[in-house]
Amino acid sequence: MANIKSLYPEFATLDDALALDTETVTKYQINHMNEFRTKMGLGGGLTFHIKKAEGCYLWDGDGNKRLDFIGCVGVYLLGHNNPVIIDSIRKYLDTKPLTMDPMCLKQVTAAFAHNMSLVTPELTRTIINGGGGSEANEAVLKVCRIAAARTKTGKTRIISTTNSFHGKTEGSVFTGGKDIWQRWQQPMPGHTYVPYGDAAAAEEEFKKGDCILFIAEPIQGEGGVVTPPDNYLPDIRKLCDKYDVYMVIDEVQAGSGRTGYLWAHQYYEGLVPDAFTFAKAISDGALPVSGVQLKNELYLAAYGDFDSAMMHTATYQDNNISAAVALASLQYLLENDVPGQVREKSKYIWDGLRALQQKYPAEILEIRGRGYMIGLKLGANANGVGQVLAQKHFIQVMTSINDDTILRVYPNITTTNEDFDWFLNALEASIKEVFGV
Ligand SMILES: Cc1ncc(COP(=O)(O)O)c(C=O)c1O
Repeated sequence: MANIKSLYPEFATLDDALALDTETVTKYQINHMNEFRTKMGLGGGLTFHIKKAEGCYLWDGDGNKRLDFIGCVGVYLLGHNNPVIIDSIRKYLDTKPLTMDPMCLKQVTAAFAHNMSLVTPELTRTIINGGGGSEANEAVLKVCRIAAARTKTGKTRIISTTNSFHGKTEGSVFTGGKDIWQRWQQPMPGHTYVPYGDAAAAEEEFKKGDCILFIAEPIQGEGGVVTPPDNYLPDIRKLCDKYDVYMVIDEVQAGSGRTGYLWAHQYYEGLVPDAFTFAKAISDGALPVSGVQLKNELYLAAYGDFDSAMMHTATYQDNNISAAVALASLQYLLENDVPGQVREKSKYIWDGLRALQQKYPAEILEIRGRGYMIGLKLGANANGVGQVLAQKHFIQVMTSINDDTILRVYPNITTTNEDFDWFLNALEASIKEVFGV
């Protein structure tokens, strides 16, 4: 066997990679990855070289302990390197498993799908992807399109909401309601956008009789943590039933416990969509995993025979290791009543934020969201406050990509009241500094 260093002296082994210094990582990223994204993060003062992550803390290359209050925009609800999730991956790998194969049975994925059917008994079909939220949304769009082509002849349109975000792949980007992300692509026909929160506007489109599906986030995340009026999604459900339109909820960011409900749409008692997508927190960041949960009739209308069974397959689809992570996360979410914990523990930070808003009403214009999905409307200074929090107070937060007047605050369940105090004191100091009050 050749030694890799004799073939390529500068080849970085995994050991080398794990020991890279900040300067070298930066150089490699700038030279070989997305140069300008890297520079954007560095220039914005939000990029650090994180050497270790545990619970709600990050340790950077300079030895600073940082508080992670964004958690990869909703991924890390169960805490960084949650030992239960990590042990599950180890246990799985120790069995010398067959992780992916197009035709062999997939025991962990099958078990996860079975578990999901217990948890959401009205939606009993599962698709698992070894990918992200965009891939899950692509999958659900395609299921609905094929089901409609086979059972709702003549229907062709997808209705989504303005200011929404469903990902950046070709189909998901045209489902999202922000044309900035659609630049330089060929316009995709069959997409109509209606104002988020306005069920009457959706009905106007449904009335035309050619709509396949309606898709929305339960709370718009990238759009700036926008919570719709309480009657909105229940009204949409009724309208979808009336006009025979599939109702799809994108739970990628709000789902898997973050808002204090296992699925954010469960905030509305009795609301059952035809399908929902999930990703982010179901992985707890351990490995990429996303998926779709669907009503049996919808799934079967698309793929319910031998002719259509191969219409949406992928190399990593339904793979066992992604499912192992999802299974472990789901079990953890349920056994530890994470949604209940979020509802209870989040009161402290919400109370603290409301008290700050009373003190600084001209600076904290709005507090939005639910549970551990929080958006602070700080106007043009949101980015500045985020930078001061990161640089001077060692707290990671982020604005949202469709609305940079909103600072997003996404804690995880390992966060204590002392951590919340750290954040609240730092937020007050940062507001004073940036707004000059
Ligand atoms: C609601 C929602 N849907 C879909 C996506 C896309 O997910 P991914 O970036 O994993 O493809 C995101 C990402 O932020 C999201 O917030």
